[in-house]
Order: sequence, then C-alpha cells, then structure tokens
Amino acid sequence: MSPQTVEKPDYGNWVSKKFILVPGLLGLAFLGLVFLSLWWILPALLFLAIAVYFGYARYRFSPQGGDVQGQIRALVLAHLDWDGKGQALDIGCGNAALTIALARKYPRAAVTGIDYWGSSWEYSQAVCERNAQLEGVGERTTFRKASASKLPFDDGTFEAVVSNLTFHEVSDSSNKRDVMREALRVVKKGGKFAFQDLFLMKPVYGEPQELLETIRSWGIEEVEFIETRQADFIPAALKLPFMVGTLGLIVGKK
Ligand SMILES: C[S@@+](CC[C@H](N)C(=O)[O-])C[C@H]1O[C@@H](n2cnc3c(N)ncnc32)[C@H](O)[C@@H]1O
Repeated sequence: MSPQTVEKPDYGNWVSKKFILVPGLLGLAFLGLVFLSLWWILPALLFLAIAVYFGYARYRFSPQGGDVQGQIRALVLAHLDWDGKGQALDIGCGNAALTIALARKYPRAAVTGIDYWGSSWEYSQAVCERNAQLEGVGERTTFRKASASKLPFDDGTFEAVVSNLTFHEVSDSSNKRDVMREALRVVKKGGKFAFQDLFLMKPVYGEPQELLETIRSWGIEEVEFIETRQADFIPAALKLPFMVGTLGLIVGKK
C-alpha cells in the first residue's frame, strides 16, 4: 500500500469549521457593503477577526499545529492513577481519542466509550469503531450510544472512569453536578476517576473547593482539583474563558 492510501484515525477538532466559515462569510459580506458606507468596515473587521481567531484555534488544536487538543486530553490519563486491571469507561467519547489512548496505555484493560453523538458534533459511533481498529485496540474497546445523565450500567461497574470536556454539554440534565455524580456512581469502590471539564466556570459548577466538599459528601475517598490552564503548552490566546481558560481536572479514588 502506498503512503498516500494509508488510512489514519480521525479524532476531529473541538473548533468546528462553522465557527470559521460563518463569521468569515459575514465579514466578507459586510466588506462588500463598504462602497455604500465606510461604517460597514467596522462589522466587517469584527467578523473577519473572529474568523481568524477560530482559524488559529482550530490550527493549534490540530496535529499540524502542535496538537494542543491531544495534549489537553493526555492530561486526563496523566492524572489517572490506575493499575490498568479491569474495565474502564470514557463518558462522552466523541471520536474515541481518549478511549483509544486509555486502551493503548493499559493493554490488559477492556474499555467502553459512550456518547450521545448528537447533531452538534461531527463525531459518530462508526468513526469510533474504525479509529479503534486502525489503532489496534478494536478487540478491547466497545462503543454504545447513551446519555451521560443516565448511564446504562450498574453501580460500581468500572475500575476506572474518565471524561473529557463533556459534562457541561449534557443538555438533558440542568445540574452538571448531577452528571458528575452519575459518573461516580458507576466507579467501583476503590476505583479511580479523572474528569476534565470547565470546572472553573462558576455559574455551572460553583466554587471549586465547595465542589470538592460536595463530592466528598457523596462518599468519595480522595478527590483533588488541578487547573488545566496552568499548562504551559497552551498558547495564551487559547486561555480565554470561552476556549480552554476555565478548564480543570477533578481526579481521585472512590
Ligand atoms: C467537546 S466534545 C469532547 C469529545 C471527547 N471527549 C474529546 O475529548 O474529544 C463533547 C462530547 O460530549 C458529547 N455529549 C454531549 N451531550 C452528551 C450526553 N448527554 N451524553 C453523552 N455525551 C454527550 C458530544 O457528543 C461530544 O462528543
């Protein structure tokens, strides 16, 4: 097989193309009106600047631009203090990047990825399965459609549970702390967890220290908060609050 025909996994990009195309086209449309009045230059420049910003973010998140997205995801596994024996779950697996990384890191583990695969994201179960085959972990990974708000598993099913950038997205639960509690429900007693989300977004999660106290009150033995935005591989321009500036990790042992 020639190098041009080698199939590669597709892990997608957190910045959808529509975030570049929509403001870019609006910017060009307003630019076209400048000959009617010079004032149109202001919205034109604003929309073009938004398109350039999201274009930059999409590039930096991609493998060609330094794979900031992959490096952020890798923090989840770096903080999962697990021996790799048993079953693991990835909640909101997208195109299975974290699920597959987990299966590769722990060659004895069986890993399940669940996602709602709604229309807001260009991810699918078929792509997860194809990526897992391409990465050589197809035999140890399973994917199924489910909502993080009501996981189709008994209490304490998994030795390890991870999730990346998903809980805030769960639209069928208004309280995102309930989604975290549901994730912790399926962790076995003594099992490990590592969740990364917009935990510094106070209207969603409240104060981090108070959130930790609440999690302890659910019977969780060890829990710790780590600020993702401190990571020096994240470019300053991507640390804005609507990008990854409010990201944090909540990790521990049940
Ligand atoms: C920002 S993406 C992150 C995907 C993946 N974890 C990653 O690191 O690339 C958010 C994911 O949450 C998923 N999601 C949204 N609502 C969900 C729900 N109710 N249950 C499970 N997954 C959901 C989306 O389909 C999407 O795959």
